[in-house]
Amino acid sequence: MLPCLNEAKKRTKNKVMVKKYKIDDNFRKLGLGKTYFIKTYGCQMNVHDSENIKAILEEMGFKESSGMENADLILLNTCAIRENAHNKVFGMIGRLKHMKEERPNIITGICGCMAQEEVVVNEILDKYRFLDLVFGTHNIHELPEILNKAIHNDKTEIDVKTIEGDIIEEIPVKRDSKYKAWVNIMYGCDKFCTYCIVPYTRGKQRSRRFGDIIKEVESLKDNGYKEVTLLGQNVNAYGKDLELDYDMSDLLEAVAKTGIERIRFVTSHPWDFTDKMINIIGKYSNIMPYIHLPLQSGSDRILKLMGRRYTKESYLNLFDKIKKTVPNVAITTDIIVGFPGETEEDFKDTLEIVDKCKYDSAFTFIFSPREGTPAAKMKDDISLKVKEDRLHRLNELVNKYAYEANLKYLGKVVPVLLENVSEKNGSMLAGYTDTMKLVNVKAPKEMLGQIVLVKINDVKTWSMDGEIA
Ligand code: 5AD
Ligand code: SF4
Repeated sequence: MLPCLNEAKKRTKNKVMVKKYKIDDNFRKLGLGKTYFIKTYGCQMNVHDSENIKAILEEMGFKESSGMENADLILLNTCAIRENAHNKVFGMIGRLKHMKEERPNIITGICGCMAQEEVVVNEILDKYRFLDLVFGTHNIHELPEILNKAIHNDKTEIDVKTIEGDIIEEIPVKRDSKYKAWVNIMYGCDKFCTYCIVPYTRGKQRSRRFGDIIKEVESLKDNGYKEVTLLGQNVNAYGKDLELDYDMSDLLEAVAKTGIERIRFVTSHPWDFTDKMINIIGKYSNIMPYIHLPLQSGSDRILKLMGRRYTKESYLNLFDKIKKTVPNVAITTDIIVGFPGETEEDFKDTLEIVDKCKYDSAFTFIFSPREGTPAAKMKDDISLKVKEDRLHRLNELVNKYAYEANLKYLGKVVPVLLENVSEKNGSMLAGYTDTMKLVNVKAPKEMLGQIVLVKINDVKTWSMDGEIA
């Protein structure tokens, strides 16, 4: 099955069923004696999908390889959000081609968001027929069958479903961390912001059942997990597709009542962020005071062209309400510069909002036209040089406020979940504060997995250093 862009744009009225994952016993030995390597691009949703893929492969007998060079099966779990993510993957596909020439018996494939794109699959059929398999975001649970076909076929096995299917529960998972876990609460997105490819690559919004989510969180807690991050493309819209009388705030409250120590959620859209939700976040100490609230642009004209459904005024109102209601909250954002037609005035409106909100941090991007999205067809006459200059000016401001936000932590004692050995200094541990600040801590390895109080004694723009208080 090949992906189809025109179909991906549509929303079906198909009822979403909930089914249980099951592997056919015939596939359990397919990978015995073989190793796999998965390279993951993109967001947390992809990272979590890779955790599912790893576990499925291990059910089939594969073992994880230490590197790509010696793996028997190599999968690229791809991201389609911007051109540079796309280019990185095609660069890697070029590398895979060489590896396949040297070791013809290896199995190579791509999955994830790019696999859902008609243009990408056409390019693969055109130039990269050496790949053994291509599957999408909607049929990860069918990997055993797909891989079986790929192994026994000479040609590239392409198995991409354009239209999302049912929700599959109980897909096995091999989590990267023993302390913090990703928990899907919904799939897909129906917002259709004009620049964004996600509604096409991830399908229509489908919320997981309340009870299934709570069961998963409880089991994580019982297994010693300290933190869960509730995942969705637009988590605030949780439940809206179920026509039931509960929503994201009810879910957050129920997750808080499980008593798990730390709860986070990504990503929020300002549109569905209710007062009830803000109050719940403020009320429960195990819901972390950290909110990612994408702004995208500070210009009302551009926000309208982006189809964002809010104005700078309503965004600022929401921002203030969150700051007032949630003690000590850190807020981060996403901003796109160089959207088609963005004038210097529009850009200055964005800088003005950044000046007002003084974000703890921001992810900033140059607009990247994505095939099939409305914005890709809009007249874009801003030169790359101007876009780069705007990005640079924006980053200077963002970095200034990020550093200022961190400075407030100097000398303070804050809770940190120690997650791993610091990448920069092997004798230190690294972890995050409740407000999602990265801290390198002088502490013994035995403290991994604990939430400890840390005294901050140095701050930089992107991280801090501290010692056990
Ligand atoms: N071009 C640039 N940035 C984009 N994003 C999403 N689509 C595009 C695009 N076409 C950014 C948005 C979003 C983040 C995940 O990526 O800021 O919030
Ligand atoms: Fe990238 Fe979006 Fe897919 Fe995540 S959901 S991998 S950000 S395109």
